[in-house]
Amino acid sequence: MLAWLGADVIKIERPGVGDATRKELQFNPDLPSYYFLQLNSDKKSLTLDAKTPDGKAILTKLIKECDMFVENLHPGAMDKLGFGWEAVHALNPRCIYGTIKGFPLSSKYKDLKAYEPIAQVTAAAASTTGWFEGEYDIPTQSGAALGDSNTGMHLLIGLLAALQQRNNTGEGCYVYQSMHNACLNLCRIKTRDQLTLDKIGYLTQFPQYPDGQFGDCVPRAGNIEGGGVLGWTYKCKPAGGYDTEKNDNNFVYIILQRGEKDFEAACKAMGFEDWLTNPDFNTADARDRHKQAIYERIGQWTADKTKFEVTDILGAAGVPVGPVLSTKEIMTDESLYDGNTLVRINQGGEIGEFVTVGCPFTMSNYQPTYGPAPSLGGNTEEVLTSLGYTAEQQAEFAKNGTTKPLADGQM
Ligand SMILES: CC(C)(COP(=O)(O)OP(=O)(O)OC[C@H]1O[C@@H](n2cnc3c(N)ncnc32)[C@H](O)[C@@H]1OP(=O)(O)O)[C@@H](O)C(=O)NCCC(=O)NCCS
Repeated sequence: MLAWLGADVIKIERPGVGDATRKELQFNPDLPSYYFLQLNSDKKSLTLDAKTPDGKAILTKLIKECDMFVENLHPGAMDKLGFGWEAVHALNPRCIYGTIKGFPLSSKYKDLKAYEPIAQVTAAAASTTGWFEGEYDIPTQSGAALGDSNTGMHLLIGLLAALQQRNNTGEGCYVYQSMHNACLNLCRIKTRDQLTLDKIGYLTQFPQYPDGQFGDCVPRAGNIEGGGVLGWTYKCKPAGGYDTEKNDNNFVYIILQRGEKDFEAACKAMGFEDWLTNPDFNTADARDRHKQAIYERIGQWTADKTKFEVTDILGAAGVPVGPVLSTKEIMTDESLYDGNTLVRINQGGEIGEFVTVGCPFTMSNYQPTYGPAPSLGGNTEEVLTSLGYTAEQQAEFAKNGTTKPLADGQM
């Protein structure tokens, strides 16, 4: 994101090793993975072993010149390398220091290493996601990267705020972002539900209401909307193309709003005018109590229509509705290649073009450009030269293991 917003982003990678994702989930053992390509567009790569004396000197020089220094190594690693916040702040008081770790410093888990699912399971995302009965009533992860990409986005907010603060004070600050905090921030509504549950013992929007049992904590919610409006997924007939029975995404999401006029519009669009005078359905509270009957009848109505037909009919009536779309359906939708939503990046060479998700917002006076991801150490010479190192010095760094792996047998 910083690179797309115009920053010169230098990724520091270990010589000969590089970012682990270069070699994770590869489609060809000789090429970087889409995982790496998608997440490193427009960055530069500097190979540097920050454990060698020359590596430390180069990193020191770089820190003295940069606006921001961002790291996500395991807890304790940066202090061990000698580049923790205090050290960096002393080297360059203007430098903003961003850190990602698994947990907040107050947490008993602060020293744990963390990956995506660890963030989701420890932040109440997984315990509140998934099915609420039967064989699959188990804590479930979201397909969205709530622990990974979401943490990066949260850190970005802190970094940009720190930049604005520095414009006023001239001094950089330390922005600490845990995956736990980022994930929990998106589970705020689940903490709202916990407060309500603690007070009254039930949650009207949940499938467990009114006949099921509630325990002490917010249960898994299936596909409820989550707020006060009544939402659910309904099975449709396959539309063809990529919407087949086999792909199993032939569903639509429909919301019945609480307002009388909105409910009336939905009833008329589906031919359920009898609900308007039936006391089991004609108030929002009554609908919460009879949601199973609502799900059943709407499900019968959607069953002989495609998700796109349902979206057209209800959308035209002003009912909040949307088809359940697969990755394939989204990535083959040419209308989304609008310059930002989905973008095609030309990586060149054997890889050619690949698709990624672009900058998720647009600005009236700025358009990001989307460039390739760097090869391992692809910008080492450029960066070292800009720092004032001569060709001889660079040759020495390559030989002594600072910017290239040591040859076999060397220590
Ligand atoms: C992701 C994570 C679990 C990986 O842990 P890891 O396998 O120990 O790998 P790391 O990259 O953190 O560190 C490995 C070592 O490489 C070293 N290293 C990394 N880059 C280096 C460099 N350019 N030069 C010298 N050493 C380097 C580290 O200092 C560390 O050395 P140490 O073990 O002697 O302390 C851990 O970094 C972590 O919890 N990070 C914070 C949360 C996070 O970002 N998770 C990832 C979400 S996808």
